[in-house]
Amino acid sequence: MSSLLHRPRRLRSSELMRRLVRETQVTVDDLLYPMFVTEEAESRSIPSMPGISRFTVEDLCREVEGIIALNIPAIMLFGIPNKKDAVGSGGYDENGIVPTALRALRKRFGNAILLVPDVCMCEYTDHGHCGVLENGDVANDPTLELLTRSSVCYVEAGADIIAPSDMMDGRVSAIREGLDNSGYTHVPIMSYSAKFTSGYYGPFREAADSAPKFGDRRTYQMDPPNRREALREIALDIDEGADIVMVKPGLAYLDILRDAREQFNTPLAVYNVSGEYSMVKAAAQNGWIDEARVVDETLTAFKRAGADIILTYHALDFARRHR
Ligand code: PBG
Ligand code: ZN
Repeated sequence: MSSLLHRPRRLRSSELMRRLVRETQVTVDDLLYPMFVTEEAESRSIPSMPGISRFTVEDLCREVEGIIALNIPAIMLFGIPNKKDAVGSGGYDENGIVPTALRALRKRFGNAILLVPDVCMCEYTDHGHCGVLENGDVANDPTLELLTRSSVCYVEAGADIIAPSDMMDGRVSAIREGLDNSGYTHVPIMSYSAKFTSGYYGPFREAADSAPKFGDRRTYQMDPPNRREALREIALDIDEGADIVMVKPGLAYLDILRDAREQFNTPLAVYNVSGEYSMVKAAAQNGWIDEARVVDETLTAFKRAGADIILTYHALDFARRHR
C-alpha cells in the first residue's frame, strides 16, 4: 500500500484527461498576422524569415483570401515604399502603399477581416528613424503631427484599428484627438506601449528595409532591463485613451506581460517578433527542433502569461494545423 495521498499524475493519464483539466488554449481567434506590402513591381520572399514575403497589392489580395478562409480575424500591414525622404512623406500620402493596399483589400473583402496598419515613420524616412530628426535625434512633438496625419489617412482608406509603433511620448493622445476631429471616434487604437529596443527586430528591418542609417533607437524605444517603466508606459497609454496595449518583443518579456495582465483590465497584445520567428524557423530547418510543437508551446506561453491577442508570423501555419 502506498502512503502517497497527492498524485498529480492521475490527471495526466490520457489525452482526454489532460483536455479536461487544461487551463489555457490558444485559438485562431487570438491571432493577428503581420504582413508586408511593397510598392515594388514584384513580390519577393524574405530570406531571413522563411515563409514570409513582401507582397505587391495584387498578390497581397490573393494571400488574404486564404487567410480569411482560415478564419484569422485580423492582419497587420507594414508598407515598403519605393521612395523615402527625410520626413517620411510616403507614410501619410493617400496614394502611398498602405492606403492603396487598404482600399484594395476593403473593396475586395468588405468586412471579412480586420485591417490593422502599423503606424510609424521608419519605413518611410531615408534615415530610417521612427520620426523626424532635429540635432541628430528624433524630435518628439513634430513627429506626433506626422503620426496623426498617417493615422487619419489610413482610416480614410479603410483601417479598422490604428497601431502606432514609434514610441514617441504622447502619441496616443495626439492620434486619438486627430481621429476624433476627423469624425473617427469609433476607430480603436492598439498601442505598442511597452516596446523595448531589441536585437530581435533584426530580420524585420531587413524585410522592411527600415534599419536606422546611423545610431540606434535607444532614445525612444525602452531600455530592456526596465520593468516598472514598462508598466508606467502602459498606464500612460491607457490614460491617453489606448483601447488595446501591447508588450513587444514576446518571449524575453513574458514577465512584463504577466505584470500588465495583473495590473490592467485593458485588452493586452503581445508581439512575437521577427527574430523570435526566424530562430524557430532556422532551428527547424536544421532538424534541431520540432517546429509545430515549439510554436504551439510558445504561443501557449503568451496566452498563459496573459495575452489576449498574439501578433505572430506563425499565425498562418498555426491556423492550418488547427483547422
Ligand atoms: C516599426 C516596427 C518595427 C517592428 C514593428 N514595427 C521595427 C523596429 O521598431 O525597429 C518590429 C517587428 C518585428 O521585428 O517583427 N517601428
Ligand atoms: Zn518605426
